[in-house]
Amino acid sequence: MTNPTGRNFIDGRWLETDETIEDTDPGNGEVIGRLARSGADEVDAAVGAARRAASDWAELAASARARVLREAADALEASADGWGRLMTREMGKPFAEARVESARAAAILRFFAGEAHRPFGEQYASDQAQTWLFTRRHPVGVIGIITPWNFPAAIPTWKLAPALIFGNTVVLKLADDAALTGLRLIEALDQAGIPPGVVNVVMGPGSKVGAAMVEHDDIDAISFTGSTQTGRGILEAASRSAKRVQLEMGGHNPVIVRSDAALDSAVAAVALGAFASAGQKCTATRRVYVARDLYDDFTEKLVAKASGMKVGYGLDESTEMGPLVNEVQLSGVLGALELAEKQGKLQCGGKRLTDGELGSGCYMGPAVFTDLPHDSEFACEEVFGPNVAVWPVDDDDEAIERANGTPYDLSAAIFTRDLDRAKAFVERIKAGIVHVNSQTAGAEVHVPFGGLAGSGYGPHEQGRAAIEFYTQTKTIYLDPS
Ligand code: UN1
Repeated sequence: MTNPTGRNFIDGRWLETDETIEDTDPGNGEVIGRLARSGADEVDAAVGAARRAASDWAELAASARARVLREAADALEASADGWGRLMTREMGKPFAEARVESARAAAILRFFAGEAHRPFGEQYASDQAQTWLFTRRHPVGVIGIITPWNFPAAIPTWKLAPALIFGNTVVLKLADDAALTGLRLIEALDQAGIPPGVVNVVMGPGSKVGAAMVEHDDIDAISFTGSTQTGRGILEAASRSAKRVQLEMGGHNPVIVRSDAALDSAVAAVALGAFASAGQKCTATRRVYVARDLYDDFTEKLVAKASGMKVGYGLDESTEMGPLVNEVQLSGVLGALELAEKQGKLQCGGKRLTDGELGSGCYMGPAVFTDLPHDSEFACEEVFGPNVAVWPVDDDDEAIERANGTPYDLSAAIFTRDLDRAKAFVERIKAGIVHVNSQTAGAEVHVPFGGLAGSGYGPHEQGRAAIEFYTQTKTIYLDPS
C-alpha cells in the first residue's frame, strides 16, 4: 500500500502525469513524494469513467457495496500505524492525533457499510385505500468531492463512504498538502475490489482541477470542505449548472467559562481545542469568554499551559504540538498575529520557532491573546493556526451575545455545573455543534456534523444525516389493481 508518486486514479488505473510537484514534510523540509498535476482533460476523463460506472454500481445490492467499504476498513485498520505516520510526515499533526484519525476513518467506513441495512424510505397511508404510498432514496449520480489537508484521512472518508454506499460514483480532488494520505484510502478501496470508474482521483491545483469539477456539466453534486471564501466561490459557480452543493467552511468557535465551571477542566479543554493539530481545524477554539471573577486565574493557567507545550516534530513521542502545514500557512498566521499584537496583548507564543531542528520546519509557539477589541479582525476572522483570545465578561447575556458575534456558527462550548444555564446556552447559541463541558473540536461518526450561517451550506455530513445530500427522493404511488 504505497504510492510515493501520488498518481491519479481514473477508471481503475493509476496514471502518471507529465508534470509533478514535490510533496514535503513540514516538520523538516524533506521531500517525501511527488504529486501528479492535472487539469480539465483529466477531470473530463474521470467524470466520463464515473458516469459509465454509475448505473452498474447503483444497481448492485447495497450489501455488495458495503462489502467493499468493510474490506477497505479492515485493510486500513491493519495498517493504521503506518497510515498515521504518513499523515504526520505529510501534514505535521502529532502521531498520537494522526493515529486516532486513521482509526476514525476505518470506523466511518464501517458505520456507512451499516447503512446497507438501515431504512432508506418511508411508508405512508394513501388516501386511496388500495394504494401503497412510499418514498425511496436513489443515488444522485456523479459526485465531485473536494477535501482539505487538515483531516486528510477522516474527511475524504466521511464524504466518500456515504457517496458510495448510497450508490453514487465519485470524482475526488485531494488537497496537495496531504494527498498521499488520502490516496491510501483509495488504494484500500481499489484492493477491496471497487469496480473501475466508481472512484476516481484527480490531483492538481484547485484553480484548475477544482474549477473544472465545479463547472463540469456531468457532475451532479459537489461536496466541499475548506475556507468560507472558496466555498462561496464554489456555490456561485455550481449554481450556473444548478448542482447540489454541500459546503463545510470556516469557524470561529467560542467557549464560555462561567464562575461555577471546573476551572482546570475548562483550561485543559480550551488548550486542546485551540492547539491540537496546531489549531488547524475548523472546529478549533478561537475565543474564550470568562466570568470576570475567574478571568485572571483562567488566563494565567492557560498561558502557563500554552507556554509549557512541547513544540516539535510530530513523530517524536514527547511532541505536544507539531508544525503548521506549510510555509505559506505559517507566514499567513504569523502576519495576522502581528497585526493583532498592535491591538491587544500577546501573552505567549505567536512567533516562529527556529531553535535547533525546529529551524528546518514550519514551527511556531501556541499563542494566547488578551485585551483585544471585540471588533478587531482577530476577534472576528478565522486565523487558521494555534491561537486563541480570552476576554472577561460580566454575565451570561454578555457572554452569549459576544459568542454569537461572528458570522461563523460552527461549534461552541460552555463550561458550567448549572444545568439551567447549560440549557439556556444550548437554546440561544448560534452553532451547528454545541458542547457542554467539553472542547469545541471533535465529531463522532454516527451523528450529524455541520455549521450554520457562514460555516455551512446544505445538509449536514456524517451519521444518518449524510443520506440527505447523497440521495434524492422518489415518491411512489403503487396501485396493485
Ligand atoms: C473535528 O473537529 O474532529 O475541517 C473535525 C475541519 C472540520 C472537521 C473537524 N471539517 O476542521
